[in-house]
Amino acid sequence: MLKPRKCLLDIREYHSPLGSAAKLRLDMNENTTGCSPRVLAKLQSMDAKKLALYPPREPGEQVAAAYMGVGPANVILTNGADEAIDLVCRGYLEPGDDVIIVPPTFAMYEVLAKAAGANVVRVPAGEDWVFPLEEVIQAVTPRTRIIFITNPNNPTGVAINRFNIVKIAAAAQDAAILVDEAYFEFCGQSMMDQVGKMKNVFVVRTFSKAFGMAGMRLGALAGSIEHISVLRRMCPPFNVNTCVLECLKEAVMDRQFVADYVKQVRETRDWTQQQLEELGFKCWPSHGNFVLCRLGDHKQAILETLQDCGVSLRDRPDCPGCVRITIGTQKEMEHVLYLLKEINTRIATANDPAPENPPAGPEGEASPEAQAAHEIKP
Ligand SMILES: Cc1ncc(COP(=O)(O)O)c(C=O)c1O
Repeated sequence: MLKPRKCLLDIREYHSPLGSAAKLRLDMNENTTGCSPRVLAKLQSMDAKKLALYPPREPGEQVAAAYMGVGPANVILTNGADEAIDLVCRGYLEPGDDVIIVPPTFAMYEVLAKAAGANVVRVPAGEDWVFPLEEVIQAVTPRTRIIFITNPNNPTGVAINRFNIVKIAAAAQDAAILVDEAYFEFCGQSMMDQVGKMKNVFVVRTFSKAFGMAGMRLGALAGSIEHISVLRRMCPPFNVNTCVLECLKEAVMDRQFVADYVKQVRETRDWTQQQLEELGFKCWPSHGNFVLCRLGDHKQAILETLQDCGVSLRDRPDCPGCVRITIGTQKEMEHVLYLLKEINTRIATANDPAPENPPAGPEGEASPEAQAAHEIKP
C-alpha cells in the first residue's frame, strides 16, 4: 500500500480562512487598495505570444537584487515568500534536525519544517510578545539547523533589534538564520546588509504586502552566493510566472506608490489602535500593516457579527482573546470601528453578543445617510 512520509501525518491541512469571501477582508494582511496602476497597465499590455513563452527568471532577479541592494547571484525569486521558506527547509533540514521558532508567529515555518522531517523547538515570546533573545540563544544545540526570525513579527507586530539577530547568527553558525522581512517596507529595519557577510543569514522578502501583489505570487530569497547557488540546484526553473516577472520593474520603479501606501497605513494604524484602546481593547504597537488586538471573552461573537456585516478579521487562538486586524484605508477602518462600537454597545447593554440583526453595515438596514457614511469601496 502506498504510504506518505511519516512526518506528513501530523500536519493539518491548511485552508485559507473563511473570511476570504467577505466584502472587506482584513484577515490576510493584503493591501486593500490594490497594486500600483503601473503594474496593472503593464499586465494589461501583455499579449498572447508573451504568455506562450516560459518565463526567464534571471532578468527579474537582477531587478529585485538592485531593489534590495545585493548582487543578482545573492537572490532567487520565488513563488511568494512561502516558497523561499520552503527552499531553505528543503535545502538544510535532514530528518531529526531541530528548527527553532518563536511563537506566536507565521504558521508556515512549522508546516514546512515538519514536512522536511524536522523537530520544531518552540521558544515562546516574552511578556508583551518581546523577542526572547537569551532563551533563543540558550535553545541552540548542535542539532539546530534553522532559526526562524520574523521581523517585524506576524501576528504581534513586534520588531526585533537587528543587533540581536546578529548575536543569534554568531551564536548559531551551523544553523541557517532565516530572517523573514515580509513586512520590511512598513518597518524599515533589515538584515539585508549582512547577506554574504554572515554566511548563515538568509533574508526573505515578499511583494504580497506593501506592493499589493499577493495574487501574483512573488517572493525573494537573499543569501550568500555559495548557499544561494546550492539552493538554485533544487529550485524549479519556472517557479515564477511571466505576468509577475513582466510587472516587477514597474512595481519597484513606482516608489511613490509604496511610499504613499506605507505612510497611509502607518497613520491609519495609529488611529485604529487609539480607537480600539478607547473601546477598551488592548493592542500592541505594530510595525506591520496590521495590529494585534485583544477582544477578550466576546471575541467569537464579535468575529461572527463582523463576518455577518461583511468584514473578516483573523482569529489568533495562539494569542488568548486576540484577533489580528489588517489595516485598510482610513475609510475602511472607520467603518470597522463604527461596527465595533455598535457591537460593543449591544454587548454592554443587552448582554446579547450575537444579535439576530447585526448592526447596520454597508448593506444593513441603516438610513441611507448612515450607509453612505460607512460605504466600503471594493
Ligand atoms: C511573516 C510572513 N512571511 C511570509 C508570508 C507569505 O507571503 P507570500 O504571500 O509572499 O507567500 C506571510 C504572509 O502573510 C507572512 O506574514
